[in-house]
Amino acid sequence: MKIALVGATGIVGEATLRVLEERQVPIARLGAFASRDRKGAVQFRGETLDVLETTQERLQGYDAVIFASSEEASGTFAPPIAARGNIVIDNSATFRLQSGIALLVPEVNANALRAGQRIFPVANCTAIVLCVALAPIRNSVRLRAVQVATYQAVSGAGRAGVEELLAGETAVLSAKPEPEAKAFAAPIAHNVIPQIGSIGPDGYATEESKVRAETRKILGLETLPISVIAVRVPVRYAHSEAVFFQTERRASLDELSEAFEKAPGIVFHREGIVTPRDVEGTDDVHVARLRAEDESGTHFSMWVCGDQVRKGAATNGVQILELLLERGMVHAS
Ligand SMILES: NC(=O)c1ccc[n+]([C@@H]2O[C@H](COP(=O)([O-])OP(=O)(O)OC[C@H]3O[C@@H](n4cnc5c(N)ncnc54)[C@H](OP(=O)(O)O)[C@@H]3O)[C@@H](O)[C@H]2O)c1
Repeated sequence: MKIALVGATGIVGEATLRVLEERQVPIARLGAFASRDRKGAVQFRGETLDVLETTQERLQGYDAVIFASSEEASGTFAPPIAARGNIVIDNSATFRLQSGIALLVPEVNANALRAGQRIFPVANCTAIVLCVALAPIRNSVRLRAVQVATYQAVSGAGRAGVEELLAGETAVLSAKPEPEAKAFAAPIAHNVIPQIGSIGPDGYATEESKVRAETRKILGLETLPISVIAVRVPVRYAHSEAVFFQTERRASLDELSEAFEKAPGIVFHREGIVTPRDVEGTDDVHVARLRAEDESGTHFSMWVCGDQVRKGAATNGVQILELLLERGMVHAS
């Protein structure tokens, strides 16, 4: 299989290269692309590869193109690739909410895959982590409502986000003036910021609207009441989420615990806590601190952590590619 990766020099692009290697995806040729040409800028399976500026012509001849770049690049380059009958896997938000396009999180909704789809968006990273954690509840006792507060790592804003945290921390610790906030709405070092994206007329920030709409789409619960507050925290990798949920039918903590233990892609902690640093660089979503909120048997809460660059982007994209290989929608040779 011939694969192109657009955005190979970014945080998600680099993680995608590692995940393709680790999962031994059968790739005969990998083309690495970004916004400009660079000699020997990335490593893949022990080889140093040149990175090329992305152009329409250069993206021809690949069975599948993975985008880990920008909405603008996906919007420009993806449709002609799909029109030629090739596969697009896209980490941007460009196509996620289009009707007729399945938003796949393979552990949660692989059954939504239909023949003929060529563009496969990878959902918002926070929504992916949330949906993996909510799927066992939806499948066993059904979901009535969800409220979630997210604690999102700076790498969610790409390399620029990580660099802004490091520069801010260095300045604070050396008592120097902090650099102006660019990737975030306020200085991130030694701080938390209750705004990710711009705030719309309904009071919802863009990240919060994405999480709400995409969670409903992935879970196949288009009218699920869901409230979201998204907060940026000075953590480098892995998002955390405090999730309050109400179920349609009464359940015991034991029943829910068993559902989590059997669910694919979840590590369930009956005891103790889990933190973003524990899950950095891994692919599972971790669920801890499950508890009842009252005596009703329908009100619960839990703490969830997942590496949003891995499961929330790179790994989920590669899992989609594996699913397409399995279903014969793209061919290994
Ligand atoms: N970071 C996350 O946690 C996360 C999670 C889920 C989804 N995503 C999505 O994944 C995508 C990549 O995010 P990231 O965090 O990896 O960003 P990043 O670290 O800033 O990397 C961006 C990459 O895109 C390339 N790029 C930018 N504009 C381009 C253009 N016009 N044509 C071709 N390549 C271009 C950059 O190339 P140069 O090096 O040449 O500038 C770089 O390789 C975004 O759509 C983002 O929303 C990110």
